[in-house]
Amino acid sequence: MLALCVLNQKGGTAKTTTAVHLAARYAADGVRTVLLDLDPQGHTARCLGIAPEVPSATARLLRDEAALGDVTVEARPHLDLVASSGDVAQVAAALPPADGVYRLADKAEAFRAYGALVIDCPPELGVLTLAASALVADLISGGARGGLVVPVTPEPLAVVGLSDLLKTQRRLEPRGVMPPVFAVVPTRVDSRNRVTREVAEALEATFPGRVSPGVRTTVRLAEAPSAGQTIYEYDPGGRGAEDYTAVAHFLNELPQRDHVEA
Ligand SMILES: Nc1ncnc2c1ncn2[C@@H]1O[C@H](COP(=O)(O)OP(=O)(O)O)[C@@H](O)[C@H]1O
Ligand SMILES: [Mg+2]
Repeated sequence: MLALCVLNQKGGTAKTTTAVHLAARYAADGVRTVLLDLDPQGHTARCLGIAPEVPSATARLLRDEAALGDVTVEARPHLDLVASSGDVAQVAAALPPADGVYRLADKAEAFRAYGALVIDCPPELGVLTLAASALVADLISGGARGGLVVPVTPEPLAVVGLSDLLKTQRRLEPRGVMPPVFAVVPTRVDSRNRVTREVAEALEATFPGRVSPGVRTTVRLAEAPSAGQTIYEYDPGGRGAEDYTAVAHFLNELPQRDHVEA
């Protein structure tokens, strides 16, 4: 099993775009995939052309009201979606922090039925993101490959912006609540731009061997959600489809990182 927690506490780094297209790629390749949306903005459903429901699937799962199999919808062949909505923000605010972090990890067994899990996190390092990372850490300790997948837009201080995330990760990994950074994905990349090249080098120095091929900027990726289509449906021959397929394959080939013992 491949278990990926797509996170970056900064908004607009293409977390949702990356989570949706990794999940869509694996599903199209015939892997039984579940896409779990933890962002109260609920954008993954919109990207797949699915109308939001309240109470949302994610809210019911976090409240322990339903089992995984009762809340998924089949968004595409081989692709099950756990859709989120605004109500997830209220659920998160009401979750007892110590217990809330383990709400999803408690359900790890149900997620193990899938060949791939992709989680879209909100732009924060709060209880929702921790619940996601604790689930992935649990799956990895049970033999899954994967970890954190961090989309990064190529701005001059992109690597510096990751320091809070890395500090949190280092503190939580030995406690089994957060897996290592599995990969960094440069997004909205313009390869002609010098800043992009410098950022790519800085990322490679910080995460040797773990920087995926970049996803180039293309208006098609920004347009596809309004059509309720993935890029594989909206523009299958274009750059967006080509680049996300390359990222998905890179992650498939990437060796697992050793677990850091407490
Ligand atoms: N490679 C890309 N080229 C052009 N636009 C992109 C690309 N990746 C993402 N976007 C657009 O950038 C915006 C932010 O992306 P999104 O995936 O929602 O980020 P996040 O989930 O991190 O907030 C969206 O409008 C999205 O369509
Ligand atoms: Mg998002």
